[in-house]
Amino acid sequence: MKRVWRVLKKIMKGEDVLTVRQSAEAWDKQFREGKWDFLVEDIQKQGHAVLIGMMCRSRAMRGDITVLDIGCGNGIVARMVRSMCGEKCRYFGIDISQAALDGLKKEDPDAVLVCADANDPPPFIEKFDVIIFSEVLLYLDFRNILDRYRDLLSKDGVIIFSLYDSWRTKMIVRNMRTKLQYISSYIITNEQSGITWTVAMAQLPNPS
Ligand SMILES: C[S@@+](CC[C@H](N)C(=O)[O-])C[C@H]1O[C@@H](n2cnc3c(N)ncnc32)[C@H](O)[C@@H]1O
Repeated sequence: MKRVWRVLKKIMKGEDVLTVRQSAEAWDKQFREGKWDFLVEDIQKQGHAVLIGMMCRSRAMRGDITVLDIGCGNGIVARMVRSMCGEKCRYFGIDISQAALDGLKKEDPDAVLVCADANDPPPFIEKFDVIIFSEVLLYLDFRNILDRYRDLLSKDGVIIFSLYDSWRTKMIVRNMRTKLQYISSYIITNEQSGITWTVAMAQLPNPS
């Protein structure tokens, strides 16, 4: 009930109810306190990351790839991409939390990591074959974010996104459908936790 009231208050103030904004300090505190440790503790519970790794592998079978993981956190996606693509992948990650990146760096010293607000893409020289938004669109300006990364995507590059199922993310997934040309999309469920994710691989249509 409290949650419904909070959402109603936001609507009445004309605020966006679909996105959840937190400062870098708030994210750092949560990572330091271990609130997000569960993401990397048991790979069997993170079906979305397994599927993202497989999607990257399907691209890496054609040749070496560069991957940019937005909101990479403490590195579950990095781990899966590495284990499925190995040396065929150059992995880059962006996250607003330095504490999260410190955890990832310990696991993967070769990863190129940038601490930044992903709403403003850092100036990369590289173009990326795969840009991943895993469990992060709800924290970003999702209505405009794809256009901000357009110039960083290589020709024939793909976007992969994942969102766990909730009333908020259902609407974000619907919004993504209007903006992307899907190549494939999957709805997967972890039978133990009951968590369901939508995971999609897609291309960005040319701007009209
Ligand atoms: C739920 S975690 C997901 C982590 C990982 N991608 C995964 O799939 O497990 C959300 C991540 O997004 C990051 N994040 C949130 N807002 C961000 C922003 N504005 N810019 C960059 N990263 C952000 C958080 O620090 C956190 O690591």
